[in-house]
Amino acid sequence: MDKVETKIGPVGVAGQVALAPMAGITDLAFRLIAKSFGAALVYIPLISAKALCLGSQRTLDLLASDPVERPLAVQIFGGDPETIARAVGMLNTYPVDIIDINMGCPVPKVAGHASGASLLRTPKLAADIVRAAARATGLPVTVKLRSGWDANSINALEVAQAVTEAGASAIAIHPRTKAQGFSGRADWSLIRLLKENLNVPVIGSGDVCSPEDAGRMLNETGCDLVMVARAARGNPWILSRTTQFLETGALPPEPTPHERVRILAQHCTLSANHDERGRAALRMRKHAAWYIKGLKNAAATRDKINHAGTIDEIVEICRGLEKEWHESCSLV
Ligand SMILES: Cc1cc2nc3c(=O)[nH]c(=O)nc-3n(C[C@H](O)[C@H](O)[C@H](O)COP(=O)(O)O)c2cc1C
Repeated sequence: MDKVETKIGPVGVAGQVALAPMAGITDLAFRLIAKSFGAALVYIPLISAKALCLGSQRTLDLLASDPVERPLAVQIFGGDPETIARAVGMLNTYPVDIIDINMGCPVPKVAGHASGASLLRTPKLAADIVRAAARATGLPVTVKLRSGWDANSINALEVAQAVTEAGASAIAIHPRTKAQGFSGRADWSLIRLLKENLNVPVIGSGDVCSPEDAGRMLNETGCDLVMVARAARGNPWILSRTTQFLETGALPPEPTPHERVRILAQHCTLSANHDERGRAALRMRKHAAWYIKGLKNAAATRDKINHAGTIDEIVEICRGLEKEWHESCSLV
């Protein structure tokens, strides 16, 4: 069956299940794992336009990518159109396909500086930022936003209309307010409102925890793509299970414990291969905890992994578990 294709500007995105940007989580290793499970679109998360312009090595490291990730979006944040334009100009030399501007991040480091979710309070500035970005690149510019600043100022449609008039080629929305953080439920009716009133693709985000949730979001809102964020942590196969479910109506089985630790070991190896700062073991601890959650002896295994100083030691622990589970499975 042919995959549904969505055009974001001239960029074709085949499939309807994207990996959402998650700062500190969706690094190159995780994105490669997500692509191996068929993610239609992945994002380099939350690059500071200012830090990019200042040439911060830490920021430049975050831009590392691999050709298999394409089409690849890079998400930037900033509150000043000129800085955004300069940063976008720099990104023209990187192998990326979509420039996304964050208008939803609630953390003080971002929203406290006229950027991220704070732009929801200044729709004109939000539009100026998109206009400046669009002038600085031939790539499509997209925006990811929340529903508004707080319950008294839900204005996602107004902001989305302002930024699409300014040149945005798609809108992703996580329909919670900045004040809500992650509490309550995402209000999917806002995804539908945007879809009904915009003539660019709309990507829905929020509370997609299973393939069935993704199907419901697509049906209830008419959005073009769904994004999976928290539910993909330690569970990247949700992307392929969801894709298959949407394409065939059949729900593929969950991987066995043995397969889960094999994928964790792969993730560790990718993380070590793309480790710019010698911190792969530290980064993989949190991922490992997500992968092994609910498995036999999870607490003891997590403890062992947390004491591992290198990726090789973590992979060794995974291999031990794989062997143990393989043997116990073959005894049954
Ligand atoms: C740890 C974490 C980091 C996130 N970082 C980003 C980010 O860098 N940029 C962004 O647009 N959204 C970010 N988000 C929001 C997600 O992309 C997504 O919109 C939100 O988690 C709702 O989806 P979910 O219910 O599938 O988790 C982050 C979410 C989490 C949990």
